[in-house]
Amino acid sequence: MGHIIVNSISKEYRNRRRQSRKNGCIESHFQDPIPVLDNIDLEFDEGEMVCILGPSGCGKSTMLRIIAGFEPATTGNVIIDGKQIEKPSSNHIFVFQNNGLLPWMTVWENIELSLRHLSETRDRAKKVAEHIEIVELEGFEHHYPHQLSGGMRRRTELARALAVNPNVMIMDEPFSGLDFMTHMKMREEVVNMHKFTGKTTLIVTHDIDDALIMGDRIVVMDGRPARIKLNHRLDFPRPRDFQKIPELNKLRQQIFLMEGVSYAV
Ligand SMILES: Nc1ncnc2c1ncn2[C@@H]1O[C@H](COP(=O)(O)OP(=O)(O)OP(=O)(O)O)[C@@H](O)[C@H]1O
Ligand SMILES: [Mg+2]
Repeated sequence: MGHIIVNSISKEYRNRRRQSRKNGCIESHFQDPIPVLDNIDLEFDEGEMVCILGPSGCGKSTMLRIIAGFEPATTGNVIIDGKQIEKPSSNHIFVFQNNGLLPWMTVWENIELSLRHLSETRDRAKKVAEHIEIVELEGFEHHYPHQLSGGMRRRTELARALAVNPNVMIMDEPFSGLDFMTHMKMREEVVNMHKFTGKTTLIVTHDIDDALIMGDRIVVMDGRPARIKLNHRLDFPRPRDFQKIPELNKLRQQIFLMEGVSYAV
């Protein structure tokens, strides 16, 4: 489960610019369409961890939203496990770019919310406790989001997503806004969780090293509208020290160049 085919997806946005009144009728004037994605073809294997890189505004989140079924492509389609995606489903869970926890609910209640489909309270409680343990938040069950650190809030979000047991986990910049050490720890946790759950995982990140260290596959998008500039399978064992793996180091330099940085630091 979790085999994804992205079939020649293109996307353009058409925003309404202004409205005017003519003969008592309201007329809308539209801007020229803004092309964002241009004929994107991708295929991800079951259980692959895919890291997606690309400059800000190139359409990474748009592509994830289309894969998750939150918005339609202008042309093309997405097929997950043989089924065309037309709307969001709990089979593909999105960990949002912005903090998505409900501030008036505790850690426990936030996780439990994603298990509404289980009618037995006992089953729900068992699952919530299990996932609190996976993300090591024991003792913080009754804390509200504002009483947690940034990393703990992300772990709660992860637990909430994992509790649903989706076939595909979609994460849009899961480490953004975290301090360096929390970022490193969260990265390790995501790698461990992926090893443990074996779920197909799509991660957008701005950090080239994250992508090289975590990914089974690395995808680089670029251009306006965006195309796939690089789609490379990374068959290296983990933990990875890219500085000791010449091929990874070369790829790192190549991606820096692609992103317009002429020297890798
Ligand atoms: N709902 C929308 N209506 C109109 N334009 C949009 C909409 N959503 C995104 N865009 C435009 O599409 C382009 C791609 O946006 P997107 O959020 O996918 O980029 P991104 O690669 O995720 O950027 P970042 O790395 O900064 O998060 C941008 O130019 C943005 O302005
Ligand atoms: Mg984005």
